[in-house]
Amino acid sequence: MAKSVYDETYQRSMKEPAAFWAAAAEDIYWDKRWDRVFDDSRKPFARWFTGGVLNTCYNALDVHVDRGRGKQKALVYDSPVTGTVKAYTYRELRDAVALCAGMLRRQGIEKGDRVIVYMPMVPEAVIAMLACARIGAIHSVVFGGFASNELAKRIDDSQPKLVLSGSCGIEVNRVIPYKPLLDGAIDLARHKVPRCVILQRPQEAAAMVRGRDRDWHEEIAAATPAECVPVAATDPLYILYTSGTTGIPKGVVRDNGGHAVALKWSMGAVYGMGAGEVYWAASDIGWVVGHSYIVYAPLLKGCTSILYEGKPVGTPDPGAFWRLIAEHGVNALFTAPTAFRAIKKEDPHGTYMSKYDLARFRTLFLAGERCDPDTLHWAEERLKVPVVDHWWQTETGWPIAANCVGLGMLPVKAGSPTKAVPGYEVRVLGDDNRELAPGQIGSIALTLPLAPGCLPTLWNNDAGYEKSYLAKHPGHYLTGDAGYRDEDGYLYIMSRVDDIINVAGHRLSTGAMEEVLSAHPDVAECAVVGVADEIKGEVPLGFVVTKAGVARGEAEIVRELVEKVREQIGPVAAFKTALVVKRLPKTRSGKILRGTMKRIADGQEYTAPATIDDPAILAEITEALGAKGYPKRF
Ligand code: COA
Ligand code: AMP
Repeated sequence: MAKSVYDETYQRSMKEPAAFWAAAAEDIYWDKRWDRVFDDSRKPFARWFTGGVLNTCYNALDVHVDRGRGKQKALVYDSPVTGTVKAYTYRELRDAVALCAGMLRRQGIEKGDRVIVYMPMVPEAVIAMLACARIGAIHSVVFGGFASNELAKRIDDSQPKLVLSGSCGIEVNRVIPYKPLLDGAIDLARHKVPRCVILQRPQEAAAMVRGRDRDWHEEIAAATPAECVPVAATDPLYILYTSGTTGIPKGVVRDNGGHAVALKWSMGAVYGMGAGEVYWAASDIGWVVGHSYIVYAPLLKGCTSILYEGKPVGTPDPGAFWRLIAEHGVNALFTAPTAFRAIKKEDPHGTYMSKYDLARFRTLFLAGERCDPDTLHWAEERLKVPVVDHWWQTETGWPIAANCVGLGMLPVKAGSPTKAVPGYEVRVLGDDNRELAPGQIGSIALTLPLAPGCLPTLWNNDAGYEKSYLAKHPGHYLTGDAGYRDEDGYLYIMSRVDDIINVAGHRLSTGAMEEVLSAHPDVAECAVVGVADEIKGEVPLGFVVTKAGVARGEAEIVRELVEKVREQIGPVAAFKTALVVKRLPKTRSGKILRGTMKRIADGQEYTAPATIDDPAILAEITEALGAKGYPKRF
């Protein structure tokens, strides 16, 4: 193994961040170079590459065509659910994006306008995102598994001039009509969306609202291509909503300059990828992984990116990932551990792998949730390639901690995403803001300023940004994760410090689910906790106390609650069950002991907090859980 240059690179990024990132920025095409690499004149807000002017779409597409990469595949759409494989060269993708950008122009979209993209995993979704970037419009992609109510919240916050949507998505073999969800969201939202452009898919035609809705294909046919609009490095490229501690999602803002620089740099340094190679992030464009590593980073780097409309299992079998790797010559795959747990369950001996030629496959990257050592070892032993656990979040947009393949890998420690990526100073802090000793679990924070590409603020909400991320540990950004560092400096990310849970690599707020449950007319109070699940890592479990005098049966109430969460948050919440209990355990000050309930449900040891109001309630909870088969045995 070549000697790692990680330590030296990391030190350089810490000692001279401006010089470090200025050097990385040379790899981007600038219409005008920056005045200042780093500008913190408006503390605590900091900006990268102020004065710089560029276009992210130009850097992702046109630059490669201009420099002779036009015939190389840029995007390969592989959709087992529709039986389609379609490739776009860089030239073809650039032309499709330019036409789509012209179509946006025809709808009156200008630089700075917001466009919501509520689409399944089809090439038009990627084209739409890049088309927004091309004309300086700000896209906000909403994951298809969210229901109308969640979409409505995002419409109200981002106030889009236009929504781009598809008639349906396809989940294994079920067609999910998207249009009724979109219509429902527009009805619910206070902001009235003036225009929608709908991609009609053959699996399900959508009914159009006269005067408001237009047909994608007709509008594209009538459009003329639009050129790239230079934007400020600090202008927003997109808004991506993510779960916070309440039911109100946070609008994470991404800029153009810092994002392009950091993402392109990460493709080489973290993922070890070069131009012309094939990269596949098996995620969804609705999540940050999809934004960064299906769309922007691979294209900025000149790679071929795979867009997969399918699942790890069931489309049609647990060999789906290996088929794609073999057929498209994938060099690196990025997915969530949950996908591997699903494959492992159906094909424990990895027999499907042996049917495919995986010779070009070099590295597996896992993120999105804690990677359990079993899954890591299973993948390593069968694939016989390095398996890299890495840690990051929507807010940062690219990895905070990783074993940087492009800098030369460090020894792997199962359960750890290794060390901080150059650009990030990661600290494990106690409640008193002091750094904790190795082995001690604390709140994981990043020293300010954040690396380029990380969120500069929340959409229209500077105060919310400060309150959520900067208030807890002065001079630091709060990641919301808890964990520790070992004697060798390796990080271990163990849990969240807030009420966010991670279900199949999807970040969800239990607070949002509690809001839905407590709105049910029979519910007096409730709590939702994440309990261990063999495949999804965690799934939500509700506890409800009914109002006095409610005589209806538990099964009926629970069925209604499950339906309500599905209807108001979406199927992605995977909220399948709740328990009716007599009382909830609380502290004397009235705080519900969710952590203790979780430990009981998972069969873990716990000590009742000294401040508990009535310890007898814990026995009631244990009994109620036991009657429903908790703790589960895997
Ligand atoms: N549109 C509409 N519905 C969707 C959807 C979408 N884009 N994505 C998921 N759903 C639905 C699913 O059909 C499912 O519905 P159901 O309750 O009726 O069965 C529900 O939302 C939960 O979906 P999911 O959590 O994906 O569970 P699953 O059982 O369908 O699949 C895995 C489980 C592990 C195979 C799947 O989660 C997976 O492939 N994960 C890969 C990791 C990943 O993409 N992580 C994202 C961040 S990297
Ligand atoms: P998201 O913003 O949806 O990408 O979710 C980010 C959160 O997922 C993080 O804050 C962590 O809680 C969790 N997470 C992501 N990657 C990892 C990892 N490698 N190990 C542990 N937790 C992770």
